Amino acid sequence: MDSNKILEASFIKEMMSTTYNMWRMGWDERNGGNISYLLKEEEIAKFLDISKVIRTMKLPFPIKELANRYFVVTGSGKYFKNVIDNPEENIGIIRVSEDGSYIDILWGYADGGRPTSELVAHFMSHVKRLEVDKNHRIVMHTHATNLLAMTFVHELEEQKITKTLWKMCTECLVVFPDGVGLIPWMIPGSDEIGIETAKKMIDHRLVIWPQHGIFGTGTSMDETFGLIETAEKAAEIYMLIGGKIKNSMTDKELNDLARAFGVSPAEGILNK
Ligand code: 13P
Ligand code: ZN
Repeated sequence: MDSNKILEASFIKEMMSTTYNMWRMGWDERNGGNISYLLKEEEIAKFLDISKVIRTMKLPFPIKELANRYFVVTGSGKYFKNVIDNPEENIGIIRVSEDGSYIDILWGYADGGRPTSELVAHFMSHVKRLEVDKNHRIVMHTHATNLLAMTFVHELEEQKITKTLWKMCTECLVVFPDGVGLIPWMIPGSDEIGIETAKKMIDHRLVIWPQHGIFGTGTSMDETFGLIETAEKAAEIYMLIGGKIKNSMTDKELNDLARAFGVSPAEGILNK
């Protein structure tokens, strides 16, 4: 099978357009950010000979829950702005082995590269989100400017950050009624940051990394991008107003909004 045929696949086109769009937003400077997209075998097999393994790579510890699962993942050290012109070098398709201890590289990372250094955080987050949502497919990490800025000036308590974000734009509560999770500052790319992020993914689709960025998850590229975009917009409003608030939605109004849109706000944030 022609190895360029994969470039016709809709999931590759989505990776190309989304990485470019995220760079355009100013969220993914240099190699900042990474995306992993869970794929079905039959989606890939139409475009790629999945029996041909280019290389294998050991995982830091086995992730059995993802055995035999396929992903397209951005490359470590690769620039989002470049994916659109050279996907074969900047992204790759991988399959987790039968015992979950290593990955097969089936396509991409053409200059000898490897998947993102945040692969543990991605994989562990996929595991947790799949437990609560069988349609889950995307994990997206980005250095969204205002969310990052907010972690310098806002109290680092997830319930307080959630409430602030909900109050910044009327539709935030409707888009992420599950609120945002927050972990302490940790070393990027470490197993620990991956494990802590994934724990938060049980209850939230968004997890903030203070002074670094955000992890977002969802069932499609559009939904996940839109989720981060909405939280980032709220953080932008927060940073724009700089604490000088004269008018705001009350807790009663937010509860009324939730009722009108049929969503259940995460517990313990709004007064009843
Ligand atoms: P990678 O280039 O390895 O994906 O790392 C980028 C990043 O944002 C780390 O947190
Ligand atoms: Zn990062």
